[in-house]
Amino acid sequence: MKSAKHRFHRNFKEAATIFGYNGMYPGPTIEAMKGQAVRVKWINNLPLKHFLPVDKTLEDAMDSPEVRTVVHLHGHNVAPDSDGHPEAWFTRNYEYVGKKYCRQVYEYPNQQQATTLWYHDHAMGVTRLNLYAGLAGFYLLHDFNEQSLDLPRGKYDIPLMIQDKSFRSDGSLFYPDNLTPRNQFVHPSVVRAFIGNTMVVNGKVWPYLHVEPRKYRFRMLNASNTNGFTFKLSNGQPFWQLGTDGGLISVTKAIQKFPLDPAERVDVIIDFSGLEGETIILQTEELDLQGNPDIHKREVMQFRVGNKGGDSIPLPQNLRPFDKLEEAKAVKTRRFVMSQEVDGFGRIKLTLNNLEFSDPVTEFPEYDTIEIWELANPVFDPTRPLGIPPNISHPIHLHLVQFQILGRQQFNVNPNKFNANQWITNGGGIEFVSNPVDPDPSEMGWKDTVRVEPGQVTRIIVHFKNYTGEYVWHCHILEHEDYEMMRPLIVIKKYN
Ligand code: C2O
Ligand code: CU
Repeated sequence: MKSAKHRFHRNFKEAATIFGYNGMYPGPTIEAMKGQAVRVKWINNLPLKHFLPVDKTLEDAMDSPEVRTVVHLHGHNVAPDSDGHPEAWFTRNYEYVGKKYCRQVYEYPNQQQATTLWYHDHAMGVTRLNLYAGLAGFYLLHDFNEQSLDLPRGKYDIPLMIQDKSFRSDGSLFYPDNLTPRNQFVHPSVVRAFIGNTMVVNGKVWPYLHVEPRKYRFRMLNASNTNGFTFKLSNGQPFWQLGTDGGLISVTKAIQKFPLDPAERVDVIIDFSGLEGETIILQTEELDLQGNPDIHKREVMQFRVGNKGGDSIPLPQNLRPFDKLEEAKAVKTRRFVMSQEVDGFGRIKLTLNNLEFSDPVTEFPEYDTIEIWELANPVFDPTRPLGIPPNISHPIHLHLVQFQILGRQQFNVNPNKFNANQWITNGGGIEFVSNPVDPDPSEMGWKDTVRVEPGQVTRIIVHFKNYTGEYVWHCHILEHEDYEMMRPLIVIKKYN
């Protein structure tokens, strides 16, 4: 990891300072084959001082250098000592280390099915800044099943890292140093949300890509700090979905549009056959604060279709057998609530079950058991003083596992009728006002991150297996995970 210069747009006056793996933005793409382990030595050659505003009141930030790093391979099924625990951080030359630090070389076993993983920084209290600064890259895991299919490959298989950013007029990265309205006690301060005004794909502002009139495979990742997007194509044609976070789905499926929250991935084919000479735009349905289409973020990138080339591969049909986890096999149901409180400086702090990261561990799933997790996201009343939004969806991510989404159900969001404790302990305190709804078609597959929508209970089913030990689970809105919306998770083995 080093500090480098990167030009986000050829018309920007100057190249911006970034932090990059090998100095690159995005980092180098690692390609691996199932069954062949990969070892990576992660080296921090960054300065000790950050170029983005560090909040010294956050966990681990007070008495340590500003630039701490640790790498998490998101979505990988890996032992805890190579998982990149947020407190396993280290600074330049491993000079200072966090209390969970244990090794320089991480081992990725690559025993799961082929999929699009990504690696990114995960250091306690500065993840939002390190990722925004550029510490993110792709890790493509392949397997024989995938290779036996007639999918676009090589230069026709392109990962897209999609992010929203803001820039200063000289072309440098802008990240806010305080809340709006300004908090008078803490400066710089963590913010509740980062909303950029520019779309960046693979490190370029509003780019275009020359494509041939044929099928392409795109592995789309939302690597934004806060923003979730719904993607669609300007000419109304569908995406052909191949996979979700955890790998291929069973059968290729047409989807007109799909939501993608931070850290989620969708694997699709876009077919440009017959579109010679046309320009297709990847669009979002993002709304601005007034509820109108966001003029800045409506467009993401262009595909300019040329006249040469083509393919004869048919659209793949059957991709991979998929086994549904059975609800009846679950040995435990856990309930959680997306909670909020006010910190000592008057700032809103978002938490899980009203607990902070350092509170005693409450999740000890047993090795090789199946659990159901029910995640409630109550809508707070915006008229109450503490009820400032965020009435937004929280992308909840569990380390170690790939899980399945069972569905969502609307509940009565009147805060006077919602009792978090009753909900957590016995499932009471909630009035459901709709029938359970199936996941979005684009989410029916293995997932490691799930949108927990406001006013709904989202149910997932998880099989804890392969490894025991200490992991974390958290909201993947980086501004939330950096400020207490993260909890430990310890998988235990019981001997009898
Ligand atoms: Cu992509 Cu714990 O994160
Ligand atoms: Cu969140």
